[in-house]
Amino acid sequence: MHILGVCNGQVHGNSEILLKAALTEAISIDPSITTSRIHAPSLIIPRNPAPLKGAMDVSLGTNKGQMSGSNTAESKVEPDDRQAALNAILDADAIIVSSATYSHQPPGFLKVLLDRIGGPYLDAGFVHNALVKQRAGDPLFANFTYDPRLLKPRVLGFMMTGGSTTPDQFSMALLEKNFMDAGSVLLDVNVMERARLLARNTVSQLGKGFDDAVYLGPEEAGACPYCHLTTIELFHDGANGVGCMTCGARGKLVVVKQKAGADGGGDDSPRILPEWEADSEWSCITLRGKIKHAEEILSWGSRESGKMAGVQEEKEKWVRTEVPLVSLPSTSRS
Ligand SMILES: Cc1cc2nc3c(=O)[nH]c(=O)nc-3n(C[C@H](O)[C@H](O)[C@H](O)COP(=O)(O)O)c2cc1C
Repeated sequence: MHILGVCNGQVHGNSEILLKAALTEAISIDPSITTSRIHAPSLIIPRNPAPLKGAMDVSLGTNKGQMSGSNTAESKVEPDDRQAALNAILDADAIIVSSATYSHQPPGFLKVLLDRIGGPYLDAGFVHNALVKQRAGDPLFANFTYDPRLLKPRVLGFMMTGGSTTPDQFSMALLEKNFMDAGSVLLDVNVMERARLLARNTVSQLGKGFDDAVYLGPEEAGACPYCHLTTIELFHDGANGVGCMTCGARGKLVVVKQKAGADGGGDDSPRILPEWEADSEWSCITLRGKIKHAEEILSWGSRESGKMAGVQEEKEKWVRTEVPLVSLPSTSRS
């Protein structure tokens, strides 16, 4: 089994130290485990690239823009780390992400990578749909092929550090907080132990598929049962509907009688907490949610592509409309 570590903070910083603590712990539990790591901020991803060769097209040819990119002549000579990073992710049996917090969230370096190799280019829900349709003899999917590593069981462990002590500053983070200086996690033995615990939890779930793997991290009352976070969106639908801001699961606010102290505080008075739907078709984490979304993209994409000819002339007008670009060293030609 191989565990890939992904560090999303500064070189030699807190997240790197915690990641190394987790990966070395994993090997100490089971010496047959191998590890490697990627430093997300160091990856080189070309500007406006076309998707990787062989990337999946979930629009089945209806969304030309998504599959073409607008790579410039000069960016073609830039190194491109995407394929190697993708292979590392697909080959791994588990991934442990260790991230800093920037502006309340994981720094965007990781998101840039995932946006360039993931999303519609790496969609397990689409593969499931395509295989069902292929078996049913749908000619659209007769020649469909996919990378089998996409459906391999893969466990994820995720930890974050942040500099702040107050939750307003890490609203989207599952984290160990109050660590500002690079290396300051070493001032707290508990946080180093927390990283090791995350590794033990991850190792205990190795090889398990989505339905069998168990979430072993901390859980607050009312947390989304899929992503285990507590940031919610109010739907204003007249029925107390709420959505999980992180993964999209839906539920509603209900009054519950919770035993005092069940989640660390409060008295016996009734409380308002989300009640979440089972086997969510909205969460991007459940297979059901992934399949629903893949179906939606396909039907919506083909409806849209049928209408595009009607706006082609207008689109070309907008392409020709000049608004001066800020002059940048990377785009100026000598
Ligand atoms: C650009 C920037 C933005 C930051 N924003 C936040 C923030 O919103 N909330 C927070 O708790 N810490 C924030 N921090 C602090 C870092 O998350 C913290 O120092 C962390 O331990 C850095 O991890 P690293 O050493 O792995 O890079 C920010 C740091 C930087 C450099």
